[in-house]
Amino acid sequence: MSLPLAELVRNMPKAELHIHIEGSLEPELIFALAKRNHVKLAYASVEALRAAYAFTDLQSFLDIYYAGASVLLEEQDFFDMTWAYLLRAHADQVRHTEIFFDPQTHTARGVPLSAVFGGIDRALQQARTELGISGALIMCFLRHLPEEQAFATLEQALPYRDKFIGVGLDSSELGHPPEKFARVFARCRELGLHLVAHAGEEGPPANIIAALDQLQVERIDHGVRCLEDPDLVRRLVRDRIPLTVCPLSNVKLRVFNQLSEHNLPALLEAGLLVTVNSDDPAYFGGYINDNFVACFAALPLQRQHAYQLAHNSFAAAFLDLPLKRKYLDEVELFFRVK
Ligand code: HPA
Ligand code: ZN
Repeated sequence: MSLPLAELVRNMPKAELHIHIEGSLEPELIFALAKRNHVKLAYASVEALRAAYAFTDLQSFLDIYYAGASVLLEEQDFFDMTWAYLLRAHADQVRHTEIFFDPQTHTARGVPLSAVFGGIDRALQQARTELGISGALIMCFLRHLPEEQAFATLEQALPYRDKFIGVGLDSSELGHPPEKFARVFARCRELGLHLVAHAGEEGPPANIIAALDQLQVERIDHGVRCLEDPDLVRRLVRDRIPLTVCPLSNVKLRVFNQLSEHNLPALLEAGLLVTVNSDDPAYFGGYINDNFVACFAALPLQRQHAYQLAHNSFAAAFLDLPLKRKYLDEVELFFRVK
């Protein structure tokens, strides 16, 4: 049997490796939490907030994204946000998810890390038992802030060391290259944490090289601009460094003018270990399956690419080998019978 492509990509088992949990806050939940917590928003209605989601670049998005996160105050808020995402991910046949969060966005407002870790982790535990989804947390440092503040955040997070598997680097790429965080990433490496960083989204290939050489990251988030540097592409292929690509995000933030111009097919053609992810689904027009369906409609992608992307998502995940094997076997079986 051969399913239509859209059905195939919707139904195939997959992992999501690039999702900012604060970017899963839907306008309706933002308003509900604002009411519950007596937080005043700068927008009069859900519709007015949605209408403001007309971004011109990364920074114009980040300004609204941080405003949306201002409604998160209590442990239950972090649980509700994460649980809503996990239900959507489950519906999209996500078996495993590695979730980014931005602790500094919350501690700067006086929200204790116990509420952040407590709420997100409780949702992940419940997803494991009730939905059969495995998940893990990656704590991101905000790169527009000084490295000393990243060190302070790491220190505060150490009591919760068992609740996160790695660290990442997000926020404004331009003007804040990876090398700014070389010392704190070295410390995280000593602590046995996995390392990833956003690079080559708006910034040049040099940022991808710096993330590899100076931060020693294991995956690159976005990384789509690597194609401008053939030597870098050869290195990424040789070392099997995954790229967690977010196609709808790239269009919304104008990294590409339209989805039909996205370089996902070229990245795959180059032999790169590419994955497809949602980034900030509430802001960028959809969850992981919306990304898959839109890409397979707009780009020259076929069944073998669907298989490759499903396979890559688990190959690139920070999973222990038996569980990784189990998920990869499920991908093989799915593509044998569908
Ligand atoms: N890029 C950088 N920082 C971010 C993003 C992104 O796409 N989403 C949330 N924080
Ligand atoms: Zn991102």
